[in-house]
Amino acid sequence: MSHRSRTRSGEIHQRAQQLTPGGVHSNVRLAGPRICFERGEGARLYDVDGNEYVDYLLGQGPNLLGHASAVVNDAVAREARRGSVFGAQHVLENAAGEVFLDTIGWADRVRFGLTGTESDQAALRLARAATGRTRFVRFEGTYHGWLDNVLATTVDGVTAPGSVGQLAHHLDDTYFIPYNNPEVLRETLSAHDDIAAIIVEPVMCNSAAIQPKDGFLAEIRRLCDQHGIVLIFDEVITGFRVALGGAVERYGVTPDLAVYGKAMAGGWPVSALAGTAELMDQLTEGVVHAGTFNSSIPACAAVIATLGLLRDDPPYGRIEAHGSKLIEGIRELGAAHQVPLRSQGLPMAFHVSFGEPELVHDHAGTAGFDQSRYADLTRTLFEHGVWVAPRGIWYVSAAHGEDELTTVLERLDAALTAEA
Ligand SMILES: Cc1ncc(COP(=O)(O)O)c(C=O)c1O
Repeated sequence: MSHRSRTRSGEIHQRAQQLTPGGVHSNVRLAGPRICFERGEGARLYDVDGNEYVDYLLGQGPNLLGHASAVVNDAVAREARRGSVFGAQHVLENAAGEVFLDTIGWADRVRFGLTGTESDQAALRLARAATGRTRFVRFEGTYHGWLDNVLATTVDGVTAPGSVGQLAHHLDDTYFIPYNNPEVLRETLSAHDDIAAIIVEPVMCNSAAIQPKDGFLAEIRRLCDQHGIVLIFDEVITGFRVALGGAVERYGVTPDLAVYGKAMAGGWPVSALAGTAELMDQLTEGVVHAGTFNSSIPACAAVIATLGLLRDDPPYGRIEAHGSKLIEGIRELGAAHQVPLRSQGLPMAFHVSFGEPELVHDHAGTAGFDQSRYADLTRTLFEHGVWVAPRGIWYVSAAHGEDELTTVLERLDAALTAEA
């Protein structure tokens, strides 16, 4: 399939570059092609030149229901007629809080926010306040937002700031250790008595979608209890995606605090910090968490509608079946084209790259992947009408059906032929 021109996208991008650095409003988008989309519908995107794309990026995860869910958007539009923020409680907040807590099933309290980045910060602050300790343990290759105390890259076992201009010493408060390695974790906790929290992406969706080995999350839980450390699950990607109850449900391990975002509000900007009453109620005892736009009417309307849809007609079986067939189809095409296309992860959030087929279990294991070859493939895929992230993650939504499956595999086949 050949795509039409992207003349209008090009013109719009040129103008955008005069308005905003790089023509994009998030640095992550600098890695992608210069494209201007006009609209999304279900699992498809349409650009301003009339080209259509099957979408497995889903806005970096939020569009679990597919794009432009009419139920969610109608609820937001209807409720927004009341206004947006009042600097006080409004009539939708309790309903949003109830459905949220009932859906995740393990926490006593919730605080809504706007982004995963900020809710992660609130979690870390609460852990410090509760323990009187300063430091955190986290795992190489995870992402917990773009602020100075969490943005980091690890190459060859050396962790460094992820940005120019970042205060490097803000990372001094963190012990970075490999994922899926209980021995190193035990040694780290025994060697230091200043650890307030362990923060973990229960599935390392930001590093090859690496899953926890059997018992690893349970061992983290056990060690946190033993050492009086707060366990924080960063469920910004996994929440409502890997199961209705997120990683807590899927892996059967309960944290003290967890952060949610992305999939919880049908594409609208909402995050949440949830946890035990004991920890969360510190927010009335001197620990500050604030935000002008927190729990706005549109945000609460989006949460109520999205979680209502996910609870009434859980799409997880369908999503899992689609993702499994897709992973298998990608593997078969790799073999047919004799290229080392590999994948791992869960069917609803998996990672594709070039490299050896064996599963990797920590960030160091991803060093052998040929990321630049894969990024090149995503550019070819884009030319063939497939929208995926250059960094390798594929997200599946409730709106992906047989049609998309056939289409994406045909287009991948064509892209691999073009690459050869
Ligand atoms: C695991 C994780 N935590 C936190 C964040 C930050 O969320 P946001 O981009 O909403 O600030 C992300 C974003 O991708 C994420 O993947």
